Amino acid sequence: MQQGGSSSPSCSASTPHCFPLGHLNAAACGSETSPEPQKHEVNAHSAPAGLSRMRPIIIFYTWYLLGLALSVACVVCVCVWSSKWRGGFAWNGSGLQFNWHPVLMVTGLVVLYGNGAVLYRVPLTWGQNKLPWKLLHAALMLLALILSIVGLCAVFDFHNANKTPNLYSLHSWIGIAATALFAIQWVAGLAVFLLPCSPISLRILLKPVHVWMGGSILSLSIAACISGINEKLFFVLKGNTNGTLPYNALPPEAVLANSLGVLIVAFGMVVFLILSNHKWQRPDSRPEDMAYTPLLQEESE
Ligand code: HEM
Repeated sequence: MQQGGSSSPSCSASTPHCFPLGHLNAAACGSETSPEPQKHEVNAHSAPAGLSRMRPIIIFYTWYLLGLALSVACVVCVCVWSSKWRGGFAWNGSGLQFNWHPVLMVTGLVVLYGNGAVLYRVPLTWGQNKLPWKLLHAALMLLALILSIVGLCAVFDFHNANKTPNLYSLHSWIGIAATALFAIQWVAGLAVFLLPCSPISLRILLKPVHVWMGGSILSLSIAACISGINEKLFFVLKGNTNGTLPYNALPPEAVLANSLGVLIVAFGMVVFLILSNHKWQRPDSRPEDMAYTPLLQEESE
Protein backbone atom coordinates (compact mmCIF):
# COMPACT_ATOMS: atom_id res chain seq x y z
CA MET A 1 0.00 0.00 0.00
CA GLN A 2 1.49 3.26 -1.00
CA GLN A 3 0.34 6.78 -1.29
CA GLY A 4 -0.08 7.64 -4.92
CA GLY A 5 -2.37 10.58 -4.94
CA SER A 6 0.16 13.38 -4.65
CA SER A 7 2.22 14.42 -7.58
CA SER A 8 5.50 15.85 -6.51
CA PRO A 9 8.33 16.69 -8.83
CA SER A 10 10.77 13.99 -9.82
CA CYS A 11 13.72 13.61 -7.54
CA SER A 12 16.97 15.37 -8.10
CA ALA A 13 19.77 16.50 -5.85
CA SER A 14 18.36 20.00 -5.84
CA THR A 15 14.72 19.11 -5.31
CA PRO A 16 13.54 19.98 -1.82
CA HIS A 17 10.71 17.42 -2.07
CA CYS A 18 13.18 14.54 -1.83
CA PHE A 19 15.26 13.26 1.04
CA PRO A 20 18.91 14.23 0.80
CA LEU A 21 20.21 10.72 0.50
CA GLY A 22 23.81 10.53 -0.58
CA HIS A 23 23.22 7.26 -2.40
CA LEU A 24 20.01 8.36 -4.08
CA ASN A 25 20.34 9.76 -7.56
CA ALA A 26 18.21 10.45 -10.56
CA ALA A 27 18.52 6.86 -11.74
CA ALA A 28 17.03 5.63 -8.49
CA CYS A 29 14.15 8.06 -8.78
CA GLY A 30 12.82 6.95 -12.10
CA SER A 31 13.67 3.28 -12.22
CA GLU A 32 13.50 0.11 -10.19
CA THR A 33 16.94 -1.01 -11.25
CA SER A 34 19.99 -0.53 -9.04
CA PRO A 35 21.26 2.99 -9.39
CA GLU A 36 24.83 3.84 -10.27
CA PRO A 37 26.60 5.27 -7.23
CA GLN A 38 26.91 9.00 -7.67
CA LYS A 39 28.63 11.48 -5.38
CA HIS A 40 26.86 14.68 -4.39
CA GLU A 41 28.94 17.78 -4.04
CA VAL A 42 29.55 18.66 -0.41
CA ASN A 43 31.59 21.56 0.87
CA ALA A 44 32.15 23.16 4.22
CA HIS A 45 29.62 25.95 3.56
CA SER A 46 26.83 23.46 2.87
CA ALA A 47 27.02 21.82 6.32
CA PRO A 48 24.14 23.82 7.94
CA ALA A 49 22.04 23.33 4.82
CA GLY A 50 22.85 19.62 4.93
CA LEU A 51 21.72 19.47 8.54
CA SER A 52 18.45 21.18 7.77
CA ARG A 53 17.94 18.81 4.83
CA MET A 54 18.43 15.88 7.25
CA ARG A 55 15.44 17.08 9.28
CA PRO A 56 12.77 15.25 7.26
CA ILE A 57 14.71 11.99 7.61
CA ILE A 58 15.08 12.42 11.35
CA ILE A 59 11.38 13.26 11.65
CA PHE A 60 10.48 10.22 9.51
CA TYR A 61 12.53 7.82 11.63
CA THR A 62 11.09 9.29 14.83
CA TRP A 63 7.57 8.46 13.64
CA TYR A 64 8.69 5.13 12.19
CA LEU A 65 10.31 4.07 15.49
CA LEU A 66 7.19 5.18 17.36
CA GLY A 67 5.18 2.96 14.99
CA LEU A 68 7.50 0.02 15.72
CA ALA A 69 7.25 0.62 19.48
CA LEU A 70 3.44 0.73 19.22
CA SER A 71 3.52 -2.49 17.16
CA VAL A 72 5.42 -4.30 19.92
CA ALA A 73 3.13 -2.80 22.59
CA CYS A 74 -0.02 -3.98 20.73
CA VAL A 75 1.27 -7.56 20.36
CA VAL A 76 2.48 -7.74 23.98
CA CYS A 77 -0.81 -6.30 25.26
CA VAL A 78 -3.06 -8.68 23.31
CA CYS A 79 -0.89 -11.70 24.27
CA VAL A 80 -0.91 -10.73 27.97
CA TRP A 81 -4.71 -10.21 27.86
CA SER A 82 -5.36 -13.59 26.24
CA SER A 83 -2.87 -15.58 28.29
CA LYS A 84 -2.98 -13.93 31.74
CA TRP A 85 -6.62 -12.80 31.91
CA ARG A 86 -8.37 -15.21 29.53
CA GLY A 87 -6.56 -18.43 30.46
CA GLY A 88 -4.18 -19.07 27.54
CA PHE A 89 -4.43 -20.96 24.28
CA ALA A 90 -5.68 -24.29 22.95
CA TRP A 91 -7.33 -25.60 19.76
CA ASN A 92 -10.18 -27.70 21.15
CA GLY A 93 -13.36 -25.69 20.57
CA SER A 94 -13.19 -24.09 24.05
CA GLY A 95 -12.82 -20.47 25.09
CA LEU A 96 -9.07 -21.05 24.97
CA GLN A 97 -9.36 -21.58 21.21
CA PHE A 98 -11.16 -18.24 20.91
CA ASN A 99 -8.10 -16.59 22.47
CA TRP A 100 -6.13 -17.16 19.27
CA HIS A 101 -8.60 -14.87 17.48
CA PRO A 102 -7.63 -11.46 18.97
CA VAL A 103 -3.92 -12.33 19.03
CA LEU A 104 -3.80 -13.39 15.37
CA MET A 105 -6.09 -10.61 14.12
CA VAL A 106 -4.17 -7.83 15.89
CA THR A 107 -0.78 -9.26 14.88
CA GLY A 108 -1.81 -9.98 11.29
CA LEU A 109 -4.38 -7.47 10.13
CA VAL A 110 -3.09 -4.49 12.13
CA VAL A 111 0.59 -4.80 13.09
CA LEU A 112 2.06 -6.76 10.15
CA TYR A 113 -0.31 -5.11 7.69
CA GLY A 114 0.51 -1.58 8.90
CA ASN A 115 4.25 -2.23 8.86
CA GLY A 116 4.03 -3.78 5.39
CA ALA A 117 2.14 -0.69 4.22
CA VAL A 118 4.86 1.77 5.25
CA LEU A 119 7.79 -0.34 4.04
CA TYR A 120 8.38 1.65 0.83
CA ARG A 121 8.52 4.87 2.86
CA VAL A 122 11.75 3.91 4.65
CA PRO A 123 14.38 6.17 3.00
CA LEU A 124 17.06 3.51 3.56
CA THR A 125 15.38 1.44 0.83
CA TRP A 126 15.18 4.16 -1.78
CA GLY A 127 18.58 4.06 -3.41
CA GLN A 128 18.27 0.35 -3.95
CA ASN A 129 16.63 -2.00 -6.42
CA LYS A 130 12.90 -1.99 -5.67
CA LEU A 131 12.42 -5.69 -6.40
CA PRO A 132 13.51 -7.10 -3.00
CA TRP A 133 11.34 -4.50 -1.24
CA LYS A 134 8.38 -5.40 -3.43
CA LEU A 135 8.88 -9.04 -2.54
CA LEU A 136 9.22 -8.20 1.17
CA HIS A 137 6.05 -6.06 0.96
CA ALA A 138 4.18 -8.96 -0.68
CA ALA A 139 5.62 -11.49 1.82
CA LEU A 140 4.68 -9.38 4.86
CA MET A 141 1.17 -8.95 3.48
CA LEU A 142 0.91 -12.70 2.75
CA LEU A 143 1.97 -13.50 6.33
CA ALA A 144 -0.59 -10.97 7.61
CA LEU A 145 -3.28 -12.60 5.45
CA ILE A 146 -2.40 -16.12 6.62
CA LEU A 147 -2.45 -15.09 10.30
CA SER A 148 -5.81 -13.38 9.90
CA ILE A 149 -7.34 -16.38 8.09
CA VAL A 150 -6.13 -18.70 10.90
CA GLY A 151 -7.53 -16.15 13.40
CA LEU A 152 -10.91 -16.30 11.66
CA CYS A 153 -10.82 -20.13 11.59
CA ALA A 154 -10.25 -20.05 15.38
CA VAL A 155 -13.43 -18.04 16.04
CA PHE A 156 -15.65 -19.78 13.42
CA ASP A 157 -14.58 -23.18 14.75
CA PHE A 158 -15.19 -22.04 18.33
CA HIS A 159 -18.67 -20.77 17.38
CA ASN A 160 -19.54 -23.98 15.52
CA ALA A 161 -18.31 -26.17 18.41
CA ASN A 162 -20.54 -24.20 20.81
CA LYS A 163 -23.53 -23.94 18.42
CA THR A 164 -23.22 -20.14 18.39
CA PRO A 165 -24.61 -18.45 15.26
CA ASN A 166 -22.04 -17.07 12.82
CA LEU A 167 -21.76 -13.54 11.49
CA TYR A 168 -24.55 -11.96 13.53
CA SER A 169 -22.66 -8.97 14.98
CA LEU A 170 -21.61 -5.63 13.50
CA HIS A 171 -18.06 -6.56 14.54
CA SER A 172 -18.17 -9.73 12.46
CA TRP A 173 -19.57 -7.90 9.41
CA ILE A 174 -16.83 -5.27 9.53
CA GLY A 175 -14.21 -7.92 10.23
CA ILE A 176 -15.23 -10.25 7.43
CA ALA A 177 -15.36 -7.30 4.99
CA ALA A 178 -11.82 -6.27 6.01
CA THR A 179 -10.43 -9.78 5.54
CA ALA A 180 -12.24 -10.40 2.23
CA LEU A 181 -11.08 -7.06 0.79
CA PHE A 182 -7.55 -7.80 1.99
CA ALA A 183 -7.55 -11.19 0.23
CA ILE A 184 -8.81 -9.57 -2.99
CA GLN A 185 -6.26 -6.77 -2.64
CA TRP A 186 -3.38 -9.23 -2.19
CA VAL A 187 -4.29 -11.34 -5.22
CA ALA A 188 -4.90 -8.23 -7.38
CA GLY A 189 -1.62 -6.69 -6.16
CA LEU A 190 0.28 -9.86 -7.05
CA ALA A 191 -1.29 -10.06 -10.51
CA VAL A 192 -0.93 -6.39 -11.38
CA PHE A 193 2.26 -5.23 -9.66
CA LEU A 194 4.41 -8.36 -9.49
CA LEU A 195 3.63 -10.46 -12.56
CA PRO A 196 5.78 -9.39 -15.50
CA CYS A 197 2.97 -9.86 -18.03
CA SER A 198 0.78 -7.12 -16.53
CA PRO A 199 0.73 -4.02 -18.77
CA ILE A 200 2.12 -0.75 -17.42
CA SER A 201 -1.11 1.03 -18.32
CA LEU A 202 -2.98 -1.33 -15.98
CA ARG A 203 -0.44 -0.65 -13.18
CA ILE A 204 -0.88 3.08 -13.58
CA LEU A 205 -4.66 2.70 -13.59
CA LEU A 206 -4.82 0.45 -10.56
CA LYS A 207 -2.15 2.10 -8.38
CA PRO A 208 -4.48 4.74 -6.86
CA VAL A 209 -7.14 2.07 -6.31
CA HIS A 210 -4.56 -0.15 -4.57
CA VAL A 211 -3.51 2.77 -2.36
CA TRP A 212 -7.09 3.78 -1.50
CA MET A 213 -8.15 0.19 -0.86
CA GLY A 214 -5.07 -0.40 1.31
CA GLY A 215 -6.00 2.52 3.58
CA SER A 216 -9.63 1.44 3.70
CA ILE A 217 -8.66 -2.08 4.76
CA LEU A 218 -6.50 -0.75 7.61
CA SER A 219 -9.38 1.49 8.77
CA LEU A 220 -11.79 -1.47 8.67
CA SER A 221 -9.29 -3.66 10.59
CA ILE A 222 -8.93 -1.04 13.31
CA ALA A 223 -12.72 -0.63 13.53
CA ALA A 224 -13.06 -4.44 13.78
CA CYS A 225 -10.48 -4.59 16.58
CA ILE A 226 -12.12 -1.82 18.59
CA SER A 227 -15.60 -3.31 18.25
CA GLY A 228 -14.25 -6.83 18.97
CA ILE A 229 -12.43 -5.73 22.12
CA ASN A 230 -15.51 -3.91 23.36
CA GLU A 231 -17.78 -6.86 22.57
CA LYS A 232 -15.49 -9.29 24.37
CA LEU A 233 -15.34 -7.07 27.46
CA PHE A 234 -19.15 -6.85 27.58
CA PHE A 235 -19.34 -10.66 27.21
CA VAL A 236 -16.85 -11.54 29.95
CA LEU A 237 -17.03 -8.70 32.49
CA LYS A 238 -20.57 -9.27 33.68
CA GLY A 239 -20.10 -8.63 37.39
CA ASN A 240 -21.58 -11.05 39.90
CA THR A 241 -22.61 -13.72 37.39
CA ASN A 242 -19.11 -15.03 36.65
CA GLY A 243 -17.01 -13.83 39.54
CA THR A 244 -15.53 -10.83 37.76
CA LEU A 245 -16.06 -7.15 38.44
CA PRO A 246 -18.44 -5.59 35.91
CA TYR A 247 -17.01 -3.62 32.99
CA ASN A 248 -18.39 -0.37 34.39
CA ALA A 249 -16.30 -0.86 37.57
CA LEU A 250 -13.22 -0.71 35.32
CA PRO A 251 -11.38 -3.79 36.64
CA PRO A 252 -7.68 -4.23 35.71
CA GLU A 253 -8.59 -6.48 32.75
CA ALA A 254 -10.74 -3.70 31.30
CA VAL A 255 -7.92 -1.19 31.76
CA LEU A 256 -5.56 -3.50 29.85
CA ALA A 257 -8.04 -4.23 27.04
CA ASN A 258 -9.10 -0.57 26.73
CA SER A 259 -5.39 0.33 26.55
CA LEU A 260 -4.95 -2.24 23.78
CA GLY A 261 -7.66 -0.43 21.83
CA VAL A 262 -5.96 2.92 22.37
CA LEU A 263 -2.60 1.48 21.26
CA ILE A 264 -4.18 0.06 18.09
CA VAL A 265 -5.74 3.44 17.24
CA ALA A 266 -2.43 5.23 17.95
CA PHE A 267 -0.58 2.78 15.70
CA GLY A 268 -3.12 3.37 12.92
CA MET A 269 -2.70 7.14 13.28
CA VAL A 270 1.09 6.84 12.93
CA VAL A 271 0.73 4.62 9.84
CA PHE A 272 -1.69 7.08 8.21
CA LEU A 273 0.56 10.01 9.11
CA ILE A 274 3.51 8.32 7.38
CA LEU A 275 1.42 7.37 4.34
CA SER A 276 -0.11 10.82 3.95
CA ASN A 277 3.19 12.75 3.74
CA HIS A 278 4.25 12.88 0.09
CA LYS A 279 7.81 13.84 1.08
CA TRP A 280 8.17 10.35 2.51
CA GLN A 281 6.99 8.67 -0.68
CA ARG A 282 9.53 6.58 -2.58
CA PRO A 283 10.47 8.77 -5.57
CA ASP A 284 9.89 6.08 -8.21
CA SER A 285 6.44 5.38 -6.75
CA ARG A 286 5.22 8.80 -7.75
CA PRO A 287 2.74 8.77 -10.63
CA GLU A 288 5.00 10.46 -13.16
CA ASP A 289 7.67 7.79 -12.62
CA MET A 290 5.44 4.76 -12.99
CA ALA A 291 6.71 3.68 -16.41
CA TYR A 292 9.11 1.04 -15.12
CA THR A 293 9.90 -2.32 -16.63
CA PRO A 294 8.12 -5.45 -15.41
CA LEU A 295 9.88 -7.32 -12.64
CA LEU A 296 11.18 -10.44 -14.33
CA GLN A 297 12.61 -8.34 -17.13
CA GLU A 298 14.16 -6.14 -14.50
CA GLU A 299 15.67 -9.12 -12.72
CA SER A 300 17.49 -10.21 -15.85
CA GLU A 301 18.94 -6.76 -16.37
C1 HEM B 1 -9.00 -7.15 12.24
C2 HEM B 1 -9.39 -7.72 13.32
C3 HEM B 1 -10.60 -8.64 13.45
C4 HEM B 1 -11.39 -9.21 12.50
C5 HEM B 1 -11.25 -9.08 11.01
C6 HEM B 1 -12.39 -10.00 13.18
C7 HEM B 1 -13.38 -10.74 12.57
C8 HEM B 1 -14.34 -11.50 13.23
C9 HEM B 1 -15.37 -12.27 12.60
C10 HEM B 1 -15.60 -12.38 11.11
C11 HEM B 1 -16.10 -12.84 13.57
C12 HEM B 1 -17.34 -13.73 13.38
C13 HEM B 1 -17.06 -15.18 13.57
C14 HEM B 1 -18.32 -15.99 13.46
O1 HEM B 1 -19.35 -15.44 13.16
O2 HEM B 1 -18.27 -17.20 13.72
C15 HEM B 1 -15.54 -12.44 14.83
C16 HEM B 1 -16.02 -12.80 16.06
C17 HEM B 1 -15.59 -12.28 17.22
N1 HEM B 1 -14.51 -11.46 17.41
FE1 HEM B 1 -13.34 -10.68 15.99
N2 HEM B 1 -12.18 -9.87 14.53
C18 HEM B 1 -11.09 -9.06 14.73
C19 HEM B 1 -10.52 -8.69 15.92
C20 HEM B 1 -11.05 -9.01 17.13
C21 HEM B 1 -10.48 -8.59 18.38
C22 HEM B 1 -9.19 -7.78 18.57
C23 HEM B 1 -11.29 -9.07 19.34
C24 HEM B 1 -11.07 -8.86 20.80
C25 HEM B 1 -11.25 -9.78 21.67
C26 HEM B 1 -12.39 -9.77 18.71
C27 HEM B 1 -13.46 -10.36 19.34
C28 HEM B 1 -14.43 -11.13 18.74
C29 HEM B 1 -15.53 -11.75 19.44
C30 HEM B 1 -15.83 -11.61 20.92
C31 HEM B 1 -16.24 -12.50 18.49
C32 HEM B 1 -17.48 -13.39 18.76
C33 HEM B 1 -18.74 -12.61 18.69
C34 HEM B 1 -19.08 -12.13 17.29
O3 HEM B 1 -19.25 -12.95 16.38
O4 HEM B 1 -19.13 -10.92 17.12
N3 HEM B 1 -12.19 -9.72 17.35
N4 HEM B 1 -14.47 -11.62 14.59
